[in-house]
Formats: sequence, C-alpha cells, structure tokens
Amino acid sequence: MSHSASAPGERRWWEGSVLYQCYVRSFADSNGDGYGDLPGLVAHLDYLEWLGVDGVWLSPTMPSPDHDWGYDVSDYLGVHPELGTLDDLDALIKSATERKMRVLLDLVPNHTSSEHAWFVEALGSRDAKTRDYYVWADPGPDGEPPNNWLDATGESGWTLDEASGQYYFHNFLESQPDLNWWNPQVHAAFEQVLSYWFDRGVAGFRIDVAHGLYKDAQLRDNPPVQDPGDLEGRFGFDRIYSMNRPETHEVYRQWREMARSYAPERLLLGETWVFEPDRLARYYGEDDELQLGFNFPFAFAPLEAEVLAKVVGDTVSALGTGCPVWMASNHDIGRFASRWGAGDERRTRLGLLLLTMLPGTVVLYYGDEIGMTDVAVPPALQRDPMTMGNRGNRPVRDRGRTPLPWDDTAGRGFTRAAVDPWLPIGEVPGGSVAAQRAEPGSMLGLTRELLALRREHLSGSVAPYGELEVASDRWIFSVGPLVVAANFSGVAIRAALPPGADAVRCSSNMERERAVVQGLIELGPYEGVVISS
Ligand code: NOJ
Repeated sequence: MSHSASAPGERRWWEGSVLYQCYVRSFADSNGDGYGDLPGLVAHLDYLEWLGVDGVWLSPTMPSPDHDWGYDVSDYLGVHPELGTLDDLDALIKSATERKMRVLLDLVPNHTSSEHAWFVEALGSRDAKTRDYYVWADPGPDGEPPNNWLDATGESGWTLDEASGQYYFHNFLESQPDLNWWNPQVHAAFEQVLSYWFDRGVAGFRIDVAHGLYKDAQLRDNPPVQDPGDLEGRFGFDRIYSMNRPETHEVYRQWREMARSYAPERLLLGETWVFEPDRLARYYGEDDELQLGFNFPFAFAPLEAEVLAKVVGDTVSALGTGCPVWMASNHDIGRFASRWGAGDERRTRLGLLLLTMLPGTVVLYYGDEIGMTDVAVPPALQRDPMTMGNRGNRPVRDRGRTPLPWDDTAGRGFTRAAVDPWLPIGEVPGGSVAAQRAEPGSMLGLTRELLALRREHLSGSVAPYGELEVASDRWIFSVGPLVVAANFSGVAIRAALPPGADAVRCSSNMERERAVVQGLIELGPYEGVVISS
C-alpha cells in the first residue's frame, strides 16, 4: 500500500467521492456489551458497499478514558479495547479494501487525554521530560489564570497544577490538555503517528480541531467578538490567539508531503471550524496543505434556497481548484433530518438530494441515509460530559449519537445485549434499515440512487458548478453534466431548465413521472430533481 507510484485514476481519489462517518459505538455491537465495535462494522461492510460509499471515516478508535468519547486520546498507536483490537482494525482495512472502500481514522493533534503518558509525566515538575509537550504558564499577580482564554464549557481554559505552581491550558475539558506545537518533539511524535497508521493502510485522517494546534506565543487575551451572531466566536470572544494561528499551516505542509509520498495519496480532511470562506481556503494552502476542510457554514445554514446557494457559490469561488467538502450532520451538530427536515420528510429528502449533488466530496453521517433524526436523550441517560444538562449552554450532543436501528427485533439489530445500549435507540420516521430496504421508494432507496448517480456522473474530479437560478422558492444549478432543480416551498412550482436538460434521473420523492415540457418542469412541494441532458 505504500511509497509506490499511484495507479491511474487513484490520484485525488477523494474528488467526487462519498465518505461515510461511522460513529463506531453506535453502528453495530458484535459482542453484546451495548457498545458498537469494529467487528460490528466489519460485519456490515456489505451494507456500505451496497449503499455505494467510497470510504468510511471512523470516529475515534484510539484508547481513551472517554471523557470526550475518544477525543481524549491516551495512546495514539492503539485501539480502544471496548471497540476491538489492532487485529480487528487490520481486518477492517482488509475487508474494506476488498470492497474498494477506504478507511480513515480520526486524529486528535490539538490535545491529549490527561491520562496520556506524556501528560502524566509532565504534571507536577517543571523539569519533567515531557513538560514542554503542553502549554504551561505562571499565574497572574493574584494567582489568577494567565489570560482570558475559555474552554469549551465557557469556564477558564486554564487549570492550576498545584504541585508545580503553573497553569496548563485546555481548549476543551480540563482532562484534555492542549499540546504545545512550538515544541519540535510534538511534531516528531505526530509524524511517527501518521506514518504508523499510513503504513498500516489507513487512507487518511479526519483531523480534529484542525484550526487549533498552535497557541499564540505571547498568550495574548482573545478580543471580544464584534458581531454577537458570529459563529466563530464562543462565549463572547473571538479565538484568534488560542486557535487559528498562522504557524499551524506549516504543520499541514509537512503532513501533506508525507501524505503525498504514499500511493494512493493519503487524505487529510480537517475539522476546520471557520466561518469565512477565505479562512477555510487558507487551510488548503497552495494545494500543499489539507486536501479537504469541512464547510461548517453549509451545515449550519437553514434549508433556504438563497442562503444555501450563497454558501455554495462563495465556497466554490474561494476554493478555486480546491475540492469542497459538504456534510449536514455529525456527532457534534446533530442530524440534518431534524434541522432541515423539521418533521417533514419531503424537506429531509430535498436536503439529502442537494447534499449529495454538490461538487467535491460529500460526507454522510451514519443514519443520514435513512433520515435518522435527533433523539431527545433524557438527562439520566446522557453520556457526553461536555454538554450534559446543556452545559455551557450547548445542545446535548448525545442527541445525534444514538444507535442505528437496523431492524425491528429486540435490540433493533444493533445489539443482542440484555442490557440497555449505551444510548437509547430512537425511532426513525421512515423506519429501520431493514424496513426501508424492503421499500424501494424509501429514504434509503433515495440515498442509494443518488449515490449511484453521483458515482456515474460526479466522481473522479471536482465537477464544475454553475448557479442557474436562485429565488426564495427555488435553487437551480448545474453540476458536471447534471442539472439540479429544487423547490423550497410548500406549493408546486414550475421551473425553467437550460436547453438539453430533459431526462429526469431522480426525484426526491422517488416519483419518476416528472416530465420536462419545453424547458419547464413542474416540481411538487419541497421536491428536488436531478436531470441529465
Ligand atoms: C471536535 C470533535 O468533533 C468533538 O466531538 C470534540 O469534543 C472536540 N473536537 C474536542 O476534541
């Protein structure tokens, strides 16, 4: 798998592809402990192949005390025992490769767990060998934290290590100390981590907090946000000194060189939590940093034609020849079937059709394909310490992390456990995977059809995108050889199509009898169609 020339067609394999984010703990439980695991995923690879995805990104798989469900890593070279073994991961890569699917892992370079050996050693003594792996600072004159940086719960991001008299910094929980990227040893350690997994056949990484890593060397206070609606600001501050530092780009240039030295090239997909298209574009560099950076403005946009069209147009023009990446649900922001669908499956289907027809790379979150909605997890059953009880005024993330209902048996085909699964299994409006598989017009049937169309027409490169018409009730665009026409209103509309666009290939409500008459198509309420010419 490594260090040889790329086979033809393998270059830039992510362009036009569909990746599937598998939240392993909630996908399939093979050993009856109520948690999904790697063998459970291996057992369901046939399903993902049938669905038509090109790769699977696994939510954190490394050993962790799970204060942040794997985003607090205690060993970057291992597999979390609850999820399986290194052999299971190797078996997954092998099985996926046989099905022409790639496996990406989640890499967390901004911080470790406080239980990582580096931090355990660093605590307590200013002379410890790994002390400088982390961000330490002396208290202010009255013993207060060194500056105004806050963590993800809205509390000070600084925790005092009483034994050494210094504070350490954490952008997230106290048990997730931030790494000090000014230290070359940290770079060397992560380069080893990258090659270790690349050599094992891992196709790339989703990089957690990709806009993090370096912290301002002078530890300057973050300024207050100018615009209170600014999504980049948190708890009233624009995190320009605790994140988004220019030095971080050098790390990605280095990693990209490593990624490029493998065949097929390994993929770096950043969790770029930035809201300006130009800021996003900076993480792509001159095609020498990340190949992909998540587009959060798209995911947070309402299902409104003018807003979505603007995000897509602005992104495509800011990225130039860079490959955009679109997703609408994940383990932090919850599910688009709730956000966009708002109880109306026609809207969920429309959202799915739009998402899967955009140029570049698409990431589906497990369950998106059946229209899984957020689950109201009662306080007593919540598992995510970061948002438990709406901590820090943040929506409870458990809502979008619940197990996938595979069928309608006890345990829903997710688990054979006698115990309750780790999070409750919710009802999906369109039914379980099995129920939807038996129903060709289901949301699952729609997803499969859209992915097949994508593979046929939009894969292998970033398809050219052209906006044709946008108004409050419609968004019509061309993407590669296809035209997409979408009705964003609850009443039927007639939409004009460009010359030659006449063969309806897919309709979000799975009705194929839509005809194009003299350049016009009638669209039902919240209907989207894909048309080829
Ligand atoms: C982003 C991850 O998606 C989220 O789940 C996690 O809590 C933070 N990064 C910290 O690692």
